[in-house]
Amino acid sequence: MKTTEITTIVYEYNSVDELNAQDRNLIEKARQATKSSYAPYSGFQVGAAVLLANGEIICGSNQENAAFPSGLCAERVSVFAANAGFPDVPVIAVAVASFSGNEFTPMPVPPCGSCRQVMLETQERFKYPIRIILSGKDRIWIVEGIDKLLPLSFTSDCMKKS
Ligand code: THU
Repeated sequence: MKTTEITTIVYEYNSVDELNAQDRNLIEKARQATKSSYAPYSGFQVGAAVLLANGEIICGSNQENAAFPSGLCAERVSVFAANAGFPDVPVIAVAVASFSGNEFTPMPVPPCGSCRQVMLETQERFKYPIRIILSGKDRIWIVEGIDKLLPLSFTSDCMKKS
């Protein structure tokens, strides 16, 4: 028997003032994007901002539906929009912010499993690590590469015959 330990490094900051200008700008865009959220059922407004290698920033927000599973998270709305609008341009960073009960959430909100899987596909597609920037009012978490948030993941490589 062999034991393998998988570790994830998360860079934690207490204030946006500790971040570089690009990350600060992306968080600001994600915060603004929460305003376009359609979340009448959960009241949980999530915004995401996707930075592309050409400098474009594509924003999105969660879009809910009375038939619950038909809605979509902010991360997938924005990443799919970025991929559809710029199919040849790598995604290099995704920032996320969440607004609930009249304020931005104090702690960062990590992406759900489906969003992790979708972002991993985009990372594999462009062969470029996606910087994940999760922002809360009191804390910011940064992870270098979506694969770090989805260890032992299922990718196209898994279907290759050896
Ligand atoms: N949601 C997101 O948009 N992103 C996440 O990472 C977690 C959850 C949305 C889905 C739903 O509209 C609401 O938040 C509550 O789950």
